[in-house]
Amino acid sequence: MDIRESITITPMTEEDVPAVHALESLCFTSPWDITAYYRELENPSAVYRVALYGERLLGFGGMWAVDGEAHIVTLAVQPEFRRSGVGGKLLTVLLDEAHRLDVHSVTLEVRVGNVAARALYTSFGFTPLATRRNYYPDNGEDALVMGLLLG
Ligand SMILES: CC(C)(COP(=O)(O)OP(=O)(O)OC[C@H]1O[C@@H](n2cnc3c(N)ncnc32)[C@H](O)[C@@H]1OP(=O)(O)O)[C@@H](O)C(=O)NCCC(=O)NCCS
Repeated sequence: MDIRESITITPMTEEDVPAVHALESLCFTSPWDITAYYRELENPSAVYRVALYGERLLGFGGMWAVDGEAHIVTLAVQPEFRRSGVGGKLLTVLLDEAHRLDVHSVTLEVRVGNVAARALYTSFGFTPLATRRNYYPDNGEDALVMGLLLG
């Protein structure tokens, strides 16, 4: 079964926040406080989408879009559902929304050692722009800044 045909991608709501925060805490070493996600719901520049399979949260992604520029803030998929196209579908929806908002360039930061995320972004046309040395406080890992120009 292709899970992509069975998931729905919808705007994040208050009801999604606890599951989003739980997945964030599972995936990232320095997760945001849950209150940050509730605040993002009030942020007019923030675009958050969740991937749902029935009522189960399989993934989520977030972006800030201001004055023609967007930044992918976060993207995560449940470990057991990775490599099934969920992350790609979320990214597609975020980039579609960026188009709709007349965004011309999209940036993001990714750990240099995050092979999966770098491969995903590269497959969408993102290219390396810069390296931020010792960017991540937990292990001093460098961040790769990647960018995509939208036509
Ligand atoms: C990065 C992440 C969101 C990708 O989600 P996903 O649902 O597994 O991605 P997809 O299945 O849509 O993959 C799309 C493409 O990305 C690339 N890709 C994804 N995971 C990969 C991996 N582990 N190794 C190599 N390429 C990979 C492939 O090109 C893949 O296409 P293919 O499966 O047809 O070869 C997921 O691995 C994740 O949640 N990681 C932990 C959180 C994280 O690091 N987020 C990014 C922060 S910048």
